Amino acid sequence: MPLKQAILPVAGLGTRFLPWSKTVPKELLPLGNQPIIAHLVSECMDAGITDVCFVISKGKELISEYFENDSKLEAELGARGKLNCLEDLKRYDSVNFHTVYQDEQHGDGHAILQAADWVESEPVAILFGDDLFVGDAGGLTQLKKAYELMGDEGVLIALENIDRSLAPRYGIIDVGAEHEGDSRLKEVNDLVEKPSPEEAPSTLGIVGRFLIPKSTIDILPSIGKEHSGEIRLVDALKSQIGSVPIFGYECKGMRIDTGTPEGYREAVEIWGINN
Ligand code: UTP
Repeated sequence: MPLKQAILPVAGLGTRFLPWSKTVPKELLPLGNQPIIAHLVSECMDAGITDVCFVISKGKELISEYFENDSKLEAELGARGKLNCLEDLKRYDSVNFHTVYQDEQHGDGHAILQAADWVESEPVAILFGDDLFVGDAGGLTQLKKAYELMGDEGVLIALENIDRSLAPRYGIIDVGAEHEGDSRLKEVNDLVEKPSPEEAPSTLGIVGRFLIPKSTIDILPSIGKEHSGEIRLVDALKSQIGSVPIFGYECKGMRIDTGTPEGYREAVEIWGINN
């Protein structure tokens, strides 16, 4: 089945950006002439996604509003001959946007669960807003190609080859066999959350892009109970090892973590150089 739908969970509290994030979602911070979230939506569109679902929390409605059609503004821009601006606004006309709420923040998997009824095809792409890719091909386009090699089934996780000293900040995969079609595509034997550098089974860390089948969403409700109530996507994936093909793809290009003020500052600098 073609990749058509993407869920973007953006309901988190964004505590690392307080007090800014008290009123303005961190996803609307500017990077170039667009907010961070628009870069994610562009990555989805580049990969052929036509349906995007934002999972937001109360107070983050501006994220959805940014992508809504504003016919009055468009008419005014047309009348004033500001065709470049008009074109910019119209770029989202081909995408169907949908918004659901996560009323309480019980984890990223719990956020995905709020979009369960919206999902109608598989795989569905999951993009966490803090990770951005700079390079020729977006992270999602790379995953889409690799997924074809997997026969369009199972789970695919975006990976980054990290410095071993940073392992405690990542989920790290225990690597299995490389796919014969692409050595960057690797079977996942296990996922280890935030290991010490010595205990990390590899230096391949999980970053914020996934292609998941409906079966992953189906098992999310059963996940929280063993993990202090939080429902986390990686725990659901870990529980599927052995029953579903799970691969990781070591993405090309540079990934930037915009989820901290320092990372965001770095992203602004890198974006300025690359764009
Ligand atoms: P983080 O754990 O980085 O949390 O979530 P956060 O709220 O964005 O930021 P801090 O840590 O408080 O500064 C990773 C991604 O998962 C989403 C977040 O919006 C972010 O995109 N998320 C997390 C949810 O949508 N709901 C949750 O309950 C947790």
